[in-house]
Amino acid sequence: MAYQDEYLRSLTHPEAFWAEKAAALPWFVPPKNILSQDEQGIHRWFADGQMNTAYMALDHHVNEGCGEQKALIYDSPVTGAKGYFTYQQLRDQVALFAGVLKQQGVEKGDRVVIYMPMVPEAVIAMLACARLGAIHSVVFGGFAPHELALRIDDARPKLVISASCGIEVNKVIEYKPMLDAAIERAKHKPERCILLQRPEVPADLMPGRDLDWHEEMAQASPAECVPVAATDPLYILYTSGTTGKPKGVVRDNGGHAVALHYSMQAIYAMRPGEVFWAASDVGWVVGHSYIVYGPLLAGCTTVMFEGKPVRTPDAGAFWRVAQEYGVKALFAAPTAFRAIKKEDPDGKLIQNYDLSRLETIFMAGERLDPATFDWTVTHTGKPVVDHWWQTETGWAICANMMGLEPKPIKPGSATLPVPGFDVQILDAHGKPLAANQQGAIAIKLPLPPGCLPTIWGNPQRFEAGYLHDYPGYYCSGDGGYKDEEGYVFVMGRTDDVINVAGHRLSTGEMEEILAAHPAVAECSVIGIQDDLKGQVPIGLVLLKDGVQVDENELQRDLIARVRGEIGPIACFQQAIVVQRLPKTRSGKILRKLLRQIADGQSYQVPSTIDDPASLQEVEQIMADKGLVRRSGG
Ligand code: COA
Ligand code: AMP
Repeated sequence: MAYQDEYLRSLTHPEAFWAEKAAALPWFVPPKNILSQDEQGIHRWFADGQMNTAYMALDHHVNEGCGEQKALIYDSPVTGAKGYFTYQQLRDQVALFAGVLKQQGVEKGDRVVIYMPMVPEAVIAMLACARLGAIHSVVFGGFAPHELALRIDDARPKLVISASCGIEVNKVIEYKPMLDAAIERAKHKPERCILLQRPEVPADLMPGRDLDWHEEMAQASPAECVPVAATDPLYILYTSGTTGKPKGVVRDNGGHAVALHYSMQAIYAMRPGEVFWAASDVGWVVGHSYIVYGPLLAGCTTVMFEGKPVRTPDAGAFWRVAQEYGVKALFAAPTAFRAIKKEDPDGKLIQNYDLSRLETIFMAGERLDPATFDWTVTHTGKPVVDHWWQTETGWAICANMMGLEPKPIKPGSATLPVPGFDVQILDAHGKPLAANQQGAIAIKLPLPPGCLPTIWGNPQRFEAGYLHDYPGYYCSGDGGYKDEEGYVFVMGRTDDVINVAGHRLSTGEMEEILAAHPAVAECSVIGIQDDLKGQVPIGLVLLKDGVQVDENELQRDLIARVRGEIGPIACFQQAIVVQRLPKTRSGKILRKLLRQIADGQSYQVPSTIDDPASLQEVEQIMADKGLVRRSGG
């Protein structure tokens, strides 16, 4: 009953519930006003609390006598570097780098963009911003200059922190030219860039603009923690929406700290001193919450891994790291396990490692398909917990609460709503649906602590994108159902967002890029199923009248444009020319139908279709190109 009691209490007495969870953290001024509403009517948590997230994550543990405990372990199979920082060492590095930022005039509320690979300095930079009350915005290294420029223009940072290069499997990615190109493109020009020079490829620094990380650190003095209000922003993290303009999800300080601290114990069953490993990247929300803030707030040891599940050097990398550092809980995207399974189908490499300290494997970021679930359970012998969340929420909406009361696992389900999340399945009119009926997954307001209070600089987009469709609810953008026991099954996005290798991307943005090609009149990008990456995008393009192009050349051109504008992680590899696109009479492209065709699913031709023959035509072309999955259902 532990789960049921806790869950009900979180919904019936949210203020008492979250006041109790907040009391477990070291506030400068503990909050009395637990739940309130701001001028826009948005719920805010702990509005009168004063605190500092970096203090809670580092200084507090040092003050409590845990300074010698390992805070951050880093392991980089691509460079051979390995090491760790104790809580004391990490606190001191963070305080020093905060001093560097302060010296450059960074103050509370200023934005700082961080464009870095998976090196400990990325974590130090994030926490140093938090220490000063500055707002960091980390941009994933796999994004191209255009994407970085969009974020720079939206966040308007005083400063950008980057590195000379990142290292992918067998290739070095130079960051500096991408940073320069982004700043060139952006209207907003940051005053300074601080560059971490890596020995693999040092960068030329631009005099007057660029500073060297190590040189600045060598002459810095540590800066103290700046108290902030719980409702002050800690970070902005951009995520894909349905258009080419990413959405700046804002995370506050207080609610975030309380939610993540609670989650570490209640969801992940982690206690202080234990080792947690989120095999993600600091550029994604999983990295923010569970490489950096969650484990440190909870006094755990976190692992930062600059490598891949395969090819660095082999499919045993996860098990090697788990053994070497005594990882208790491993968290990664299902695609990582699909990659391992592909290279080591019988799990032979797993046998080479002692995984006795690994208790649970958590997966999120995309749908966990039953085959990957079964393979991982069978070959590791560990419970595999699927949990569902989004950049917007910052922590799990549905999970199997391993630290509260583990429930029987149902493959395909993210189990039950996490305390604080009143999850409902709604029909098109906003009416709750009965068990086993599929609809929009919505969360009744207020959202619990940790979830976004707004979109950076654009409260209207927050209202229009999440709150407008179902008054009184947050609309998740995912569809699914609950079974008779309340287990939640997340079936996929209901909008134009796709998930490629656990990376969230916008097909709308790709369409904008394809449509800008001089030969293209109209286009549609859809996500189709992929055995390794879950989904990959394909483009269907309609040429302008009279345009003669070589289709292969056009495809190469379009692929290069998407790669150049969004980045290699878009994995856009296929564009096919069609004569017509199936549309409704009002001119809307029937994307869902196209997806169903590609996935080999049965579909119903809607009565609103303009020209049914266009559908058969497209289906034929897709089948000819081998783009229709045979085993769908
Ligand atoms: N910086 C620069 N380039 C990057 C990058 C980064 N941080 N991350 C990926 N890329 C590049 C890759 O090198 C690749 O380039 P290529 O087209 O020139 O080969 C391209 O982007 C596509 O990358 P990816 O989709 O990751 O494919 P992959 O074949 O390199 O790896 C997996 C496949 C499954 C191993 C990998 O996607 C993976 O580990 N996924 C887990 C995802 C994850 O952790 N998600 C976080 C949410 S929990
Ligand atoms: P992101 O914001 O990048 O974390 O992506 C969030 C989206 O990923 C969600 O809206 C879902 O579509 C998908 N997602 C995340 N976790 C899961 C899960 N456990 N099961 C199904 N889909 C998931």
